Amino acid sequence: MFATVLWSASLLFAAPASLSAAETVWLSELDLTMFRQSWGEAQRDRSVTGKTLSIAGQAYERGVGTHARSVVWLDLVGGSERFLAVVGVDDATTSDSASLAFQIAGDGRKLWDSGVLRRGQPAKTVDLEVRGVRSLMLLVTDAGDGVSYDHANWAQARFLVSGARPRTVPAPVEDVVILTPKPGPAPRINSPRVTGCRPGNPFLFRIPAQGERPMTFTANPLPAGLTLDADTGILRGTAPARGEYVVNLSARNRHGTAQSTLRIVAGDTLALTPTMGWNHWYTHYDRITDRLMREAADVMVSSGMADVGYQYVSIDDCWMNAAKHADPLRVGPHRDAEGNLLPNKHFPDMNALTEHIHRLGLKAGTYISPGPRTCAGFAGSWQHEARDARQFADWGFDLLKYDWCSYGEIAAKDPDPELVKFKKPYVLMGRLLQEQPRDIVLNLCQYGMGDVWKWGAEVGGHSWRTAGDLGFELDRIFEVALQNAEHRDWQRPGAWNDPDYIQIGYIGNAHGMGQPRPCPLTPSEQYSFMSLWCLMASPLFFSGDMGRLDEFTVNVLCNPELIEVNQDPLGQCGRVVPLADETFAMVKDLADGSKAVGLFNRGEFPATVTATWPALGFEGRYRTRDLWRQQDVGFRQESLAAPVARRGGAVFRLWRAE
Ligand code: GLA
Repeated sequence: MFATVLWSASLLFAAPASLSAAETVWLSELDLTMFRQSWGEAQRDRSVTGKTLSIAGQAYERGVGTHARSVVWLDLVGGSERFLAVVGVDDATTSDSASLAFQIAGDGRKLWDSGVLRRGQPAKTVDLEVRGVRSLMLLVTDAGDGVSYDHANWAQARFLVSGARPRTVPAPVEDVVILTPKPGPAPRINSPRVTGCRPGNPFLFRIPAQGERPMTFTANPLPAGLTLDADTGILRGTAPARGEYVVNLSARNRHGTAQSTLRIVAGDTLALTPTMGWNHWYTHYDRITDRLMREAADVMVSSGMADVGYQYVSIDDCWMNAAKHADPLRVGPHRDAEGNLLPNKHFPDMNALTEHIHRLGLKAGTYISPGPRTCAGFAGSWQHEARDARQFADWGFDLLKYDWCSYGEIAAKDPDPELVKFKKPYVLMGRLLQEQPRDIVLNLCQYGMGDVWKWGAEVGGHSWRTAGDLGFELDRIFEVALQNAEHRDWQRPGAWNDPDYIQIGYIGNAHGMGQPRPCPLTPSEQYSFMSLWCLMASPLFFSGDMGRLDEFTVNVLCNPELIEVNQDPLGQCGRVVPLADETFAMVKDLADGSKAVGLFNRGEFPATVTATWPALGFEGRYRTRDLWRQQDVGFRQESLAAPVARRGGAVFRLWRAE
């Protein structure tokens, strides 16, 4: 179906007569590892899938095959005169939904925009003067409909060069700016201000409070069965009879006293605010040990994370035995003669581990699959579910992540309708956990199958992943967030959409379970990540290296005013308000009648993001506070605007003023 004649070098556009360019430098001759793209790798003179470059039936000999979203930066070193190319969707893409937009920017200004191009549409020609431009950026966006099937060709892309040759370079490095003010020495009691528990089960709550230690806590009136450690602010005991108890809290040190309340709701619902904590997966993968778990718990306290509400210290996969693994200490029988799960040799004593975590006032999380094996090939719960649920309770775990993984093998043989099969393992584990004499929060990990947000709560889940592993698509945090927010109506206290863990600081590349290294996101992207997760009331699980927490990472993770938005008792997921091209707002109603508003810029250029009152559905005058900076910024009426860095975000809280 494609033209057999390749558009080859001999068919180059003739250079304008006035141009003295001596040399043609092909984009595909340059270092293509500098391309950042959402899928696959940039290909030299081939499409992203390795075929002949082809647009609307026309084949091309040279060019770069890439995939939206794709960005590459070039330093033209002052030597390039023109940039020429023909661009479009590659014919090999298999879906009619493929659509793209190509954009070119020079020194921070947009120079060219293809508009939306779809599969089969003729290529667009670029012939751009770039004399005097130093920094050039070639961008392919998904044209607003997601990146699936978006195979993009910069065909015949070349520079006419009269001096130095252009080169591809890493994206410009952004300044690392710390926005969260350092906590002061005076006490400050932070969220959550409500906690759920089941009557008669063990109760544990560490009052999150910043400020200089020593500090003395009070909690009055305390329901019968609970005691407070006045030095640590840890409440323990047995959860009271069904009912709501409002406890007045105070925290005092030599700089002052802070007061707050904690509402304890003894009933059927746990996780009344989104779960917060740390999970080992994106840092330690199949290298996790008891020592690393204890270290994480210690750092959660020493870093101040526990003082802003982080609470769960969760093991992910690979704590059990596998039949095969490079580390012999992880190989062994899955179970003992009675069928009890056997942790591997890196976990000599599970009770001692959870005790270590509980002593700090924190909670312990664990992980398994309903299938015969976990995703990484370790022991699963299949046909041992009741025993395992009991075991997790006996070991002292407070949260279970139940990961579908090899359950697909079981489901494939099950004649029941699809939705019944999706629910089945979770219905079973949900019931078993409720039968334990312990509060165990259940996180469903099955990547959104069967619209899990519609039934996750009904089967006993407290949160559910709405998509696949975010570690594989970190450059798509905006898209993943926007998709997650589409399920906002299903979310409520005790029932949370989970777009996966916060991956900032030191994390290992999910492709290949790499060793931790600085995460590839820019500082602005990291602020956006945390801002979006807070506005969506998503579970906040940091999954970076606790042993290498730097000041910037703590600043992103530990802003109590942002976290208060996440932990707001209404539990609302922000609603998305599209603004200009690549900007949007996210608006979240808060329990005190105020609103949190995020202004985001998904684009590659700094932008002033403006949201007008009609767009936001606001009326009148609002007292406004910049939450990252923790600064009042006066009153706003008619609109809210902020300068926002490329791929950045700003978050404000607005109170109606009369
Ligand atoms: C799946 C899950 C991840 C992680 C791994 C462990 O990929 O989605 O979050 O738990 O399994 O193998």
